[in-house]
Amino acid sequence: MTAPSEIAHKVDHLFFWVVTICTFVFLCIIIAMIYLGYKYRVGAKVDRANPPRSHLGLELAWTLPTLIVFILFFINGANLYTKSKAPIDTDMEVYVIAKQWMWKFQHTEGHHEINELHLPLGKKIKLTMLSEDVIHSFFLPDFRIKQDLLPGRYTTLMLKPQKEGVFRIYCSEYCGSKHAQMLGRVIVMNNPSFEKWKLAQRPWPGKITSSRGQKLFNDYGCIACHSTRPSDVLDQDMAGPSLWNIYNKKVTLTDGKTIVADESYIHRAVYEPNAMIVKGFKPQMPTFKGIITNEEFQDILGFLKTLKSEKKP
Ligand code: CUA
Repeated sequence: MTAPSEIAHKVDHLFFWVVTICTFVFLCIIIAMIYLGYKYRVGAKVDRANPPRSHLGLELAWTLPTLIVFILFFINGANLYTKSKAPIDTDMEVYVIAKQWMWKFQHTEGHHEINELHLPLGKKIKLTMLSEDVIHSFFLPDFRIKQDLLPGRYTTLMLKPQKEGVFRIYCSEYCGSKHAQMLGRVIVMNNPSFEKWKLAQRPWPGKITSSRGQKLFNDYGCIACHSTRPSDVLDQDMAGPSLWNIYNKKVTLTDGKTIVADESYIHRAVYEPNAMIVKGFKPQMPTFKGIITNEEFQDILGFLKTLKSEKKP
């Protein structure tokens, strides 16, 4: 039986070996204990003269191999963990917003879903996740992955579905009275069905995420202070830094520190603009807390991610 994802298969494999080896070690200890307990019981006629005080060879024989085996477990586990987080080159990105008590999914091509996430088979998918209120945790047991969603800070998950089907989503962080009802489903479809599903969706008002984002960027007046073009002479007079090619690039702040402009940084720059000022600019941007919703922000973020030179293949 194929596992629903590549990671799931490897996690199971690791789990199998941890359980098998631990069971083996457990049995060895129990059997030795019972045997020795029986052999040296009260009244048994055994040689009790000169019991050995230490045995270096024996000590090493049970500590070194155990140490090595458990370090191997650790390396394997850490490797799998980083793989489920690392930003691999993705085929598809989905924004996830958790709120009491539902999951909202937003595909970059504009489809919105609540408590259901349709995914194509065999594609590398990045989930970029944020919470609207308290901490939630996105748990996909069939895929053996779990990740907390935090208010104000983005977290990500990578997955690559390998099997068609419907898989349950749970919230695995207590988040209020209806925590147990915060459920959802991942529906993995083959590519033709997925395309068909996409076409059948009621088109969300205005096409794709990035163009919605661009409209919001203009409507909220961001455009008045931030250039979105490759820098030119005119941009010198702008009140805020240019946003051209900003995503995942290093930014120098007034205190000389540098920071990577990832999702969390950009989110903070919108909602707490004076927390981290870019070098060479004054703290004069108003906060957009309570004005731009998290969903609108996702669109704007989608737009900012497009502000870069097209990669030539
Ligand atoms: Cu959301 Cu528990």
